[in-house]
Amino acid sequence: MYPKNTWYVACTPDEIDGRPLGRQICGEKIVFYRGADGKPAAVEDFCPHRGAPLSLGFVRDGQLVCGYHGLEMGCEGKVLSMPGQRVRGFPCIRSYPVEQRYGFIWVWTGESELADPALIHHLEWADNPEWAYGGGLYHIQCDYRLMIDNLMDLTHETYVHASSIGQKEIDEAAVHTRVEGEQVITSRYMENIMAPPFWRAALRANGLADDVPVDRWQICRFTPPSHVLIEVGVAHAGKGGYDAAPEHKAASIVVDFITPESATSHWYFWGMARNFKPEDQELTATIRTGQGKIFGEDQEMLELQQANLLRHPERKLLMLNIDAGGVQSRRVIDQWLQQERKV
Ligand code: FES
Ligand SMILES: [Fe+2]
Repeated sequence: MYPKNTWYVACTPDEIDGRPLGRQICGEKIVFYRGADGKPAAVEDFCPHRGAPLSLGFVRDGQLVCGYHGLEMGCEGKVLSMPGQRVRGFPCIRSYPVEQRYGFIWVWTGESELADPALIHHLEWADNPEWAYGGGLYHIQCDYRLMIDNLMDLTHETYVHASSIGQKEIDEAAVHTRVEGEQVITSRYMENIMAPPFWRAALRANGLADDVPVDRWQICRFTPPSHVLIEVGVAHAGKGGYDAAPEHKAASIVVDFITPESATSHWYFWGMARNFKPEDQELTATIRTGQGKIFGEDQEMLELQQANLLRHPERKLLMLNIDAGGVQSRRVIDQWLQQERKV
């Protein structure tokens, strides 16, 4: 269903500032918090005393304290103390490898010995002053792979996002899917079209005319376990499209980290990284609001699609050429799952 020997985005750093956060990831109930040295820590969300969720407790001097009877838990899952009790012999609970990197807290949900921080994908736009990033988190009630399908086929923009980024020409432009190692790439190029509202606003924000024809592109890249980064943009027509010089275009990367919660739900970390006007925080906020609204439109579609699929598990679905990106991505995931079964 989902690979576990891999890094997933668990939360953003602000979510564990000064308090523990309980979050289920890949079927595991986990509590995230900051330990004594300020480093993120993650242990099972289960107090070994009576099974209360530790996430309802609090952090005192870098130690997680159970909110039921005050048991103090160490970052490694070993009980440290409990008021008036001798607890050193209590069994350990599970701890999880965690890393803070690129503005996210990452967790490894599989075998701890295999967790190598070097396996976290490099993100060239993160921690880079030439880029700005804004994003959010949605809890979505559907299989994380339905979200991957959605992002690896942007045909749906024409229909689901008709008032912002959708336009008829998306439908009409041929889509190409290719696989490079474990990366799946779906691309679409549209030439000499008028930009839809979201991109008109982006052109204006970048000091460019928004009432002239543009060349538009969408290049979706899936990498396992479930990251989809999409290069999107528009350039004034005839200036080179995707390869146009920066002064002729507005371009950015749509960032999607899709973290499974259960077989039919996931945490969707969405955002946009751009390398024009990175210092303009107001623009970051405006884009974030617009993008949040657009991705809310996907949520309704995907959740009701999931409900339909659960109601009719026996139905065969159609596979069209536009579905190739999702199909190939699922193939890569299946290979990873097979690999894990062998370990
Ligand atoms: S259940 Fe946690 S201290 Fe009792
Ligand atoms: Fe969408």
